[in-house]
Amino acid sequence: MSQKSVVRGKIHYVGVNDRNKSLFEGLWPLPYGVSYNSYLIDDETVALVDTVDVCFFEIFLGKIKAIIGERPIQYLIINHMEPDHSGSLRLIKQHYPDIIIVGNKQTFGMIEGFYGITGEQYLVDDRDFLVLGHHKLRFYLTPMVHWPETMMTFDETEGVLFSGDGFGSFGTLDGSFLDTRINTDRYWDEMIRYYSNIVGKYGSPVQKALEKLQNLSIKVICSTHGPVWTEEHISRVIGIYDKLSRYDADEGVVIVYGTMYGNTEQMAEVIAEEIAGEGIKNVVMHNVNKSHPSYIISDIFKYRGLIIGAPTYSNQIYPTVDSLLSQILVRDMKGRYLGYFGSFCWSGAVVRRMAEFATKSKFEIIGEPVEMKQAMRDISYKQCVNLGHAMAERLKKDQK
Ligand code: FEO
Repeated sequence: MSQKSVVRGKIHYVGVNDRNKSLFEGLWPLPYGVSYNSYLIDDETVALVDTVDVCFFEIFLGKIKAIIGERPIQYLIINHMEPDHSGSLRLIKQHYPDIIIVGNKQTFGMIEGFYGITGEQYLVDDRDFLVLGHHKLRFYLTPMVHWPETMMTFDETEGVLFSGDGFGSFGTLDGSFLDTRINTDRYWDEMIRYYSNIVGKYGSPVQKALEKLQNLSIKVICSTHGPVWTEEHISRVIGIYDKLSRYDADEGVVIVYGTMYGNTEQMAEVIAEEIAGEGIKNVVMHNVNKSHPSYIISDIFKYRGLIIGAPTYSNQIYPTVDSLLSQILVRDMKGRYLGYFGSFCWSGAVVRRMAEFATKSKFEIIGEPVEMKQAMRDISYKQCVNLGHAMAERLKKDQK
């Protein structure tokens, strides 16, 4: 048995890397791939924590057998039912027919619904425990991080938290799953993108989960995606999830716009120049027709300022911007400063319709919205400068 699979003591990594999938959940780009992490606790009784995407079952099973040979697995702990983790459940059950599935009352209905599996269950409630021999596991229900059945399992013996999607990130594990054996640089941005895309709507449940975990002596975090985090990085990882789930953000402005012939883009450029000229260094611009919403949403989670622009199109907001507005509203973000602008050819509508978005978002409105007819003139230039100036001033007020 190779020691390369050891997380700590008798806890092993048995997850897999997916470098084939282009879009996670059919939505979110995976330029660095994604890992599906599963863990095996090789105690007197053996427990498996979550499974992997069904496409990787053979590799997964091979990793399990390399550790325990033909010994049985007594327990399968299901922290999360989304099929990227539960996908191998039916096949695991076929190979280990006596396995007992451990879950909470939300879990088992989903198991039957997705996989038609019933049979012996080990039902746990918040803070219940399970002793495997040397290892004592305690379960913490963390509903809506980011599904209703989500829970975390804490190995009190080793201080290892099996956190489900919590503290996860995109990106495969190249060479090793352990943070101390790899260059972790690329995961930090991918963690923010993962959180904002997948979990972002559920800030309040994430905060409740963090409260539950705050007194645990966590030495290792074993998420279902991304590296296994050890002591050197744990406070940073928890800090990122805490900050994002409070919708706290850094000083900076995301300027996101749609444009057909460059006139609306000209407005964005003027606004950006004014903001940077006022000393705000973090100005991130996205043309919605080029940037994938995944990255735009991630940047909106990073920065407090948001300025949105679009042409009028068929008496509506330009469609790709309109779609982005829906995705922002879905995430129920808080604490952002919002400015907006738009253009039209013969009849203006976009600014009026963006005002509806602004009201729904409950963001703090900054400056006067700018509506430009056809192309840039002195008046619209000055209005764009004023909007950029107002945003910079608002951000600078927070410095005091
Ligand atoms: Fe990684 Fe929510 O599944």
